[in-house]
Amino acid sequence: MPGRVRVGSVADLADGELHTVDADGTAIVVGQAGASLCAARNRCPHLGLSLTRGPGGLRYDDGTLVCPWHNSRFDLATGENLDWAPGFAGRDMPRWSRKLIALGRKPSGLTTYDVEVEGDDVYVRI
Ligand code: FES
Repeated sequence: MPGRVRVGSVADLADGELHTVDADGTAIVVGQAGASLCAARNRCPHLGLSLTRGPGGLRYDDGTLVCPWHNSRFDLATGENLDWAPGFAGRDMPRWSRKLIALGRKPSGLTTYDVEVEGDDVYVRI
């Protein structure tokens, strides 16, 4: 059953960085995209790996998140997949090799969560 979980303060989370947060046992990421705070499950839809820890390192810029494993890009606000497994660990690979890197997985988006701000408190609906 969905619940509302406080995940931090605006002062801590709205700094342009991507934050990893435990929301009642669910690992999520919270970041600023434009003027809004957005949240998604910290699990890449490609192979289920962490979006914040991997050989390519954390890569996040104003709402666009790049998976540290095979470089899939996502829009944090909508969860939309913008590019699917184009490489490994921050390096792009030749176009012909993308199907190998994708390992038969079809492009899919992030699991996103609604974010609510009340005063300085940030809540996520899990
Ligand atoms: S695990 Fe994220 S792109 Fe492969």
